[in-house]
Amino acid sequence: MLGFPLTPQVKVYLSAILSVGMKLSEKIYAIGPPGLRRKTSDKLNADISPHRAGMKLAKNNVKLAKRALRPGAGNLVNGVLRKLVSLKETDSLPLPNIAGDDRAQARALAIIHSHPVWMVRRWMRFWGIEESVRLMNWNNSDPYFGLRVNTAKGYTRTDLVNQLKSLKVPHELSTYLKEFVRLQTGMQAVIQAGLLKEGICSVQDESAGLVVCVVDPQPGDTIIDCCAAPGGKTFFMASRLQGQGMVLAIDINKGRLRILKETARSHAVNDVVTTVNADLRLYADKNNLKFDKVLLDAPCSGLGVLSKRADLRWNRRLEDLEHLTHLQDELLDAASMLVKPGGVLVYSTCSIDPEENEERVAAFLHRHQEFAVHPVHGYVPPDFVTEKGYYFSNPVEHHIDGSFAARLVKSSRYPS
Ligand SMILES: C[S@@+](CC[C@H](N)C(=O)[O-])C[C@H]1O[C@@H](n2cnc3c(N)ncnc32)[C@H](O)[C@@H]1O
Repeated sequence: MLGFPLTPQVKVYLSAILSVGMKLSEKIYAIGPPGLRRKTSDKLNADISPHRAGMKLAKNNVKLAKRALRPGAGNLVNGVLRKLVSLKETDSLPLPNIAGDDRAQARALAIIHSHPVWMVRRWMRFWGIEESVRLMNWNNSDPYFGLRVNTAKGYTRTDLVNQLKSLKVPHELSTYLKEFVRLQTGMQAVIQAGLLKEGICSVQDESAGLVVCVVDPQPGDTIIDCCAAPGGKTFFMASRLQGQGMVLAIDINKGRLRILKETARSHAVNDVVTTVNADLRLYADKNNLKFDKVLLDAPCSGLGVLSKRADLRWNRRLEDLEHLTHLQDELLDAASMLVKPGGVLVYSTCSIDPEENEERVAAFLHRHQEFAVHPVHGYVPPDFVTEKGYYFSNPVEHHIDGSFAARLVKSSRYPS
């Protein structure tokens, strides 16, 4: 292989080697770079080192290019792929030099690891080069998927493991959460066997499960899930209630909320889950309701889940962060109105960006002195607890998605 995994999301690197490798970048763009990049990526993925396998793949891709693009494209693809095979064999695939000032280094790393330059610069500033490279390697690797067994239907993890064994799906037990297993392959078999449809288990990353541990739902609790759809955390919280208490699931997106409602039925938690389609900001303003526990799993950049969402890095812009942080502040203010005195507000994201996480909490605490941080010791394993007492999963360290949660307690002296 090339020294690091090549997947379809590594399009910047592919564009770079295509243009250097054959010096025909204009032609590539003329015939449609996405198609050619995809073929190149597939080919490199399949390992171009064994010469014969490489040449066979080249032939197949030439056929594909002729059919998908136009007859002349076949020759071009043939030339590019054969050139890449020979460059690989002589270990001379082009790589940019990581040299110069921060910007130049970020540009080189962005090409090598196929991430947007703005993201790399940002991460270099927060964590330095080494850690940023480890993160990008993680983002480019094949993702793990978590499965959570649905205890609300009486299933145990052993039941799920037995099902996976009978389907011959390789899996590992989560060491963090007793309801979870993780897989890297075999999801298709799980889907086809109907395990998801029948509500035996759901696809959920352990990082999301740990956010629910920060909420710590207990039988009898009244909980509001302020940005609930599609409902992964709603269902896990509901299953922890063991039929006593309630989760009010709010979301602004009608379609996603409808899916949540249907899934609640198939997961047998519809007796404790109620849905409301609303903008949280208007809902909190109009309704004088108070809950024991309030979860705000805020809309965010999703920068903690890039290994699973191949295109997300290319759809995000630096400007999005500004819009998102503003929305997160507004949603936090709204969510805080729904917490009863002495109650708990959990703010969470699936981002690793400090501006969406610690900085939002600091700004919130500045605006709301009736709230204080309640460190998450005892709610999640110790290596997920940050110095400030927040929950943080680091993909590179914990090998699960990146996520963040703060547990904030409202003063019991604060009037309702
Ligand atoms: C990160 S997702 C929530 C994921 C969910 N908690 C789960 O675990 O499956 C954020 C959700 O916030 C919703 N949302 C965005 N703005 C909102 C608003 N103003 N009021 C209520 N929901 C909102 C989006 O529709 C989206 O479903």
